[in-house]
Amino acid sequence: MATESQAFYGRWARLYDLIARRTPGIAQLRRRAAAACRLEPGDTVVEMGCGTGANLPFLREQVGPEGTVIGIDFTRPVLERARVATADYDNVHVLQGDATQPPLAADAPDEIDAVLATFVVGMLAEPAGAVDDWCDLVGPDGTVVLANAAPSREWYAPPVNAVFRAIVVLSTPPTTQLRYEDDPARRLEQKIDAAHTRLRERAVAVADETHVFGVVRLTGGLLG
Ligand SMILES: C[S@@+](CC[C@H](N)C(=O)[O-])C[C@H]1O[C@@H](n2cnc3c(N)ncnc32)[C@H](O)[C@@H]1O
Repeated sequence: MATESQAFYGRWARLYDLIARRTPGIAQLRRRAAAACRLEPGDTVVEMGCGTGANLPFLREQVGPEGTVIGIDFTRPVLERARVATADYDNVHVLQGDATQPPLAADAPDEIDAVLATFVVGMLAEPAGAVDDWCDLVGPDGTVVLANAAPSREWYAPPVNAVFRAIVVLSTPPTTQLRYEDDPARRLEQKIDAAHTRLRERAVAVADETHVFGVVRLTGGLLG
């Protein structure tokens, strides 16, 4: 699954970058996710599965010039875009590696204040386990923030979810299949539920929000 995802995001890096930065309302959502990390100037934040780096400038805004932003992704072509997009900041670093085994040993500062993962946990084999590890990484007083797209639970959900399902099928590697043994949107929702639930269980304080007709779920958890 990892290789399939890497091939998919590698091939579509340019298009994904456009969508990631230009979709109406997406900048506001990214700013909101960065704010939910509750960062202060000088802090250190790690973004897991940073893709083409669309969140990184918002995180840099939060930690300022004296803070540190680290983006991790396992797909080289998207990471190259992230590297170019953040070349002006000397405190934003992008590393190639697996978000479930972050390559932080050599580069990590003593303390990581927050972890952000947007639109990533649905791609992981064990999303709840990854969230556990991220909670351990930030430790007491740290924050973990997840944002993910899943079927809406609003009263007007049916037409919204029909569009959502079509987008999920089209963007689920290998995308060439018309019929799946289990519905990719359902599978995605189960993974996202598992990840957000685990974060709520681990956190001492939780903030939940929904955006974009209820399709985007954002959960911020403060660790005890
Ligand atoms: C849908 S994109 C989201 C990118 C970015 N977070 C954003 O909000 O635009 C998912 C990204 O997660 C990366 N990814 C998926 N699984 C990963 C893993 N186990 N380790 C590192 N990166 C991963 C993919 O390479 C891809 O760039």
